[in-house]
Amino acid sequence: MGREMAERIMLITGAGSGIGAAIARHFAAPGTVIYGCGRRLEPLTQQAEELRGFGCEAHPRACDMTDSAAVDELVAEIVARHGRLDVLVANAGIAVNRPFVDTDDGLLEEIMRVNVLGTFACCRAAFRHMRLAEAGTIITIGSVVSHRGYPNQAAYTASKHAIAGFTKSLCAEAQPFGVRVACIMPGGVATDMVRATRPDLDDEAMIQPEDVAEATRYLVDLPRRIAIDSIAMRRWAAAP
Ligand SMILES: NC(=O)c1ccc[n+]([C@@H]2O[C@H](COP(=O)([O-])OP(=O)(O)OC[C@H]3O[C@@H](n4cnc5c(N)ncnc54)[C@H](OP(=O)(O)O)[C@@H]3O)[C@@H](O)[C@H]2O)c1
Repeated sequence: MGREMAERIMLITGAGSGIGAAIARHFAAPGTVIYGCGRRLEPLTQQAEELRGFGCEAHPRACDMTDSAAVDELVAEIVARHGRLDVLVANAGIAVNRPFVDTDDGLLEEIMRVNVLGTFACCRAAFRHMRLAEAGTIITIGSVVSHRGYPNQAAYTASKHAIAGFTKSLCAEAQPFGVRVACIMPGGVATDMVRATRPDLDDEAMIQPEDVAEATRYLVDLPRRIAIDSIAMRRWAAAP
C-alpha cells in the first residue's frame, strides 16, 4: 500500500498481553504497520499472526525497555524502514503489591527502571525522530495511581506519578514541533497484571483493555485543533 493511502506506522510496547495487545488489535487494519515489542518474543509472534489476519503489517520484536540502546536501535530500524514513526504507545510496565516497609531498594529500583526509565527511553527515542519529522503522537500509560495513592503500592505509585510528570513536560516541549503527547491514566483494567496484584477486584466490574484501546484511538485521531494532555479513566463502581 502506498504512503499516500494514509499508512500509519506504530510502535506499541508491551504489546503481547493485556492493554498493549488490545491496542494492537484495535488498530490492526490495512494500511497500518504495527511493531509490537516486549521481552518475550513468543506471544508477540503469535499475536502478529492474528494482526496480519486483519490486513495490517505486523512486526514482533523482542526488546527490553530497560536497555535504552536496544530501544534506540528498534526505533531507528522502524524509521530506516518506513521513513518515520507516527505513533508510539509506551505501555510496557510492571506492578507489585507490597507494604511500604517491605519495599526494599531492589524492588523499588526494578519498578523505577522498567516503568520510569523504560517509558522515558522509548519516548526519548521516538521524540528524537518525531521532532525532525514535525509530526507524531506519543501516548504514555500512567494509572489512577499517577494522581492518587493506594496502600501497598508505594513503588508502583511513585513510578506512575513519575510517568505522568515527565509526560507533562514532554507534552509542552513537543508542542512547538507539532508532536502530540498524552498520558492515559486508567483505574483497574481486567488484565493478568491486576488479577495478580489485586485479586480482590472483580473482572466484570473493571475497565476492559478494549476501553483503553478506544481512548488511545481517540487521542491518535484527534483533529489538529485540539490538544488533550491526559485522560483519567476510573471504574464507574470505584469511589471518585
Ligand atoms: N491492569 C491495570 O489495572 C492497569 C491500570 C493502569 C495502568 N496499567 C498499566 O498498563 C500497562 C500494561 O499493563 P497490563 O495491565 O496490560 O499488564 P500486562 O499484561 O502484564 O502487560 C505488561 C506488558 O509489559 C511488557 N513488559 C514488562 N516489562 C517489560 C520490559 N522491561 N521491556 C519490555 N516490555 C516489558 C510485558 O511483556 P514481557 O513480559 O514479554 O516483557 C507485558 O506484555 C502497564 O504500564 C500498567 O502499569 C495497568
